[in-house]
Amino acid sequence: MTPAPSIRPRRLRRTPALRRMVAETRIHPAELVLPVFVREGISAPQPIAAMPGVVQHTIDSLRGVAAEAAAAGLGGIMLFGVPAERDARGSAADDPEGILNRATRAVVAEAGDALVVQTDLCLDEFTDHGHCGVIDASGAVDNDATLARYADMAIAQAEAGSALLGLSGMMDGQVAAVREALDLAGHEQTALLAYSAKYASAFYGPFREAVDSQLTGNRRGYQQDPANRREGLREAELDIAEGADIVMVKPAMSSLDVLADVAAVSPVPVWAYQVSGEAAMIEAAGANGWIDRDAAVRESLTSIKRAGADAILSYFALEAAGWAR
Ligand code: PBG
Repeated sequence: MTPAPSIRPRRLRRTPALRRMVAETRIHPAELVLPVFVREGISAPQPIAAMPGVVQHTIDSLRGVAAEAAAAGLGGIMLFGVPAERDARGSAADDPEGILNRATRAVVAEAGDALVVQTDLCLDEFTDHGHCGVIDASGAVDNDATLARYADMAIAQAEAGSALLGLSGMMDGQVAAVREALDLAGHEQTALLAYSAKYASAFYGPFREAVDSQLTGNRRGYQQDPANRREGLREAELDIAEGADIVMVKPAMSSLDVLADVAAVSPVPVWAYQVSGEAAMIEAAGANGWIDRDAAVRESLTSIKRAGADAILSYFALEAAGWAR
């Protein structure tokens, strides 16, 4: 009789070469998207205290980072605008001369052939109350009035040259409304990235500083309750039915279950957003010497990919694109 085989999973963990050969998950630069901030009325990039290494760009410095992202082979760059002036309806959002639309034209001219230029389609950066939509008489965010604003914003962004519009506002019916408006305006080829399962999260904290947010309350009336898992799947299914080209789950690390659920059934690409607070925790703990920052960056992105993300929006995108594979 032959002896029983010795079952030893550690055989494949023995050397770096073995581990590298059997790794199930790798991150390619094309699967990374860099979120960037561009601010109106500044003459030099401004640091963001809660986001070490991330700045609010001028249009000029943004062009530079777009060129860098293209040279690094990133899949794309996602633009967020910080306007000098805000009002209740977020007028600067659909103004062709608004900061986001101006910056989009500049980035498309700089790097639009090499990477996918994407824009955040939401009103929160542009409203003086900081909500993602317009407010009704009762003080609530008015879903359908907001859809009309998103439609105008979508057309302005498409005309500025954005290839992929990131619908991050969590209004019901936003994908269908924006798709229809774009198609009617002749922008059938402008693609939609739906932030489908977007949870009302404390991990967006540093982002509020990055966009100089005017919000005093919270977004729990439109973003999802982190208690709910199947609702994430439902939101993704609705967005796909409404015509989303890509769906996204956000935040990433606190929603890996939802990400895996959506990835298991989605017929369209599924992305995840490693948000500002996720990055800030790694930076802060790393700066204190409490964790190995570089290893944590790598592990966090790897775990998001392993859970099912086809691509990841991450403030670490440029850094990760430089990893030896
Ligand atoms: C809304 C938007 C937010 C983020 C991306 N798009 C803020 C929010 O919903 O409050 C957060 C991203 C991050 O924290 O990095 N326009």
